Amino acid sequence: MSSVTVRVPAKVNVQLSVGPLRDDGYHDLVNVFHAVSIFDEVVAKESEGLSVKVVGESAELVPLDDSNLAIQAARALAKHAGRTYGVELVITKAIPVAGGMAGGSADAAGALIACNELWGLGLPREDLMEIAADLGSDVPFSLMGGTALGTGRGEQLTPVETAGRFHWVFAVADGGLSTARVYAECDRLREATGTRVGWPQVNEALLAALKAGDARALGAELTNDLQPAALMLRRSLARTLDAGRGSGALGAIVSGSGPTCAFLVGDEEHAHDLAASLTSLGVARTAVPTYGPAVPHIA
Ligand code: C5P
Repeated sequence: MSSVTVRVPAKVNVQLSVGPLRDDGYHDLVNVFHAVSIFDEVVAKESEGLSVKVVGESAELVPLDDSNLAIQAARALAKHAGRTYGVELVITKAIPVAGGMAGGSADAAGALIACNELWGLGLPREDLMEIAADLGSDVPFSLMGGTALGTGRGEQLTPVETAGRFHWVFAVADGGLSTARVYAECDRLREATGTRVGWPQVNEALLAALKAGDARALGAELTNDLQPAALMLRRSLARTLDAGRGSGALGAIVSGSGPTCAFLVGDEEHAHDLAASLTSLGVARTAVPTYGPAVPHIA
């Protein structure tokens, strides 16, 4: 086999409840992930050394040095296998960079799946999940896809039952936001307002809406504790969210740490209409109609 192609979806958090800051700098979460069909493509090609090339949507914003998560993933997998392997990774971006949709995590997950195949390692998914958790909090979910409840820092996953498809529009902003910075702003806001937070709790009404495939009920239950922080760092997002609500979205939320905004709608037609109106109102650089759940797959 001289090359393997893997497609990995983006995610939105339909519930993101953030507990107090832990001693290790992370926060305990109740994090309900939902993968949506905006895919990055990772091609792993036989090669002597380790290298990465990135093309597509805002590719120039992705680092190509050792901070690149896909390269880190390939290296961690080779180390796990106890061998020196080479690969050239070619990533075609569609997921917004630093957009709160786990684009970097998707690329790392894609590299793990692709290199496992290319190198003929045949490692089971559980081994890849363990390597994934060391690479970043969202990488295990990117490997898994679908819809899942994440606890701990988001890496301990249980699948969540859903029915049918949920239709979404993602309003992509200009530029990204640093996840670490948004969490720090969340802590700062809580401190400044004297807000004491307890242990995050699973929203049972949200799980019931997912299970029933009830978009209207899900729209009413969407929550993101990072949203006030993202809005503080990027004031223009309030207008984007309002524009979506005003155009009949069933739910409007910042995606993860932002700045992408997610809008839940009832069907595909409404998704296309809403995407067109968000673009014409000038509240997003681009608006992408899509659906979830989606799963990573070898193409
Ligand atoms: O795990 P990952 O490298 O993706 O996390 C990026 C940053 O986001 C962390 O350094 C931390 O500041 C913040 N984070 C957090 N609590 C989590 C997950 C991430 O504070 N559960």
